[in-house]
Amino acid sequence: MRGVIVYYSHSGNTKQIASFMAEYLGIEICEIKTKEGYLQEDIIEQGKRQIEQNFSPEINEINQNIQDADFILLGCPIWWYTFAPAVKTFLENHDLSGKIIYPFTTSSGWKGHIFRDIEKLAKNAIVKQGLYLHYDGDRLVDSIKTIEKWLDNIKKEMKN
Ligand SMILES: Cc1cc2nc3c(=O)[nH]c(=O)nc-3n(C[C@H](O)[C@H](O)[C@H](O)COP(=O)(O)O)c2cc1C
Repeated sequence: MRGVIVYYSHSGNTKQIASFMAEYLGIEICEIKTKEGYLQEDIIEQGKRQIEQNFSPEINEINQNIQDADFILLGCPIWWYTFAPAVKTFLENHDLSGKIIYPFTTSSGWKGHIFRDIEKLAKNAIVKQGLYLHYDGDRLVDSIKTIEKWLDNIKKEMKN
């Protein structure tokens, strides 16, 4: 089974988790990047507008072979109770039929409905139990053990 970690991160929290996971599982990692950046001072409102308008920002081409992957760990910060728009574009641009998706997310604690939204968009993928991680600014509130436990479960599932 070949797995890959695909993530979007604006301010580095999700990137930190994705990097830890890649090392723990020994699998490839790639970042979703928007072609246009966000204005730091307006990010909350700009993000809100994009989500309200159901906007899909252009993203750079993914530099890993997603089509050959059997499973994907998909990481994303929560923006206004759902996935950041860049992940919406990723899900729209890639046919993930038959693939197993393990979603993980970082947020300030207002969880919303991100995992349900991923399931809706990645129609023919198998979306497994996701992992919510709570950050206070750039400090991870949850323990590393929580992440390891979730990853150990994935490892077990991959063996079966
Ligand atoms: C535009 C925007 C919207 C956000 N909306 C939420 C939200 O709905 N719920 C929440 O708990 N945190 C929200 N946050 C906080 C981020 O989810 C949190 O800081 C996350 O860890 C950032 O991840 P990153 O550093 O990988 O970009 C929002 C942040 C931004 C920039």
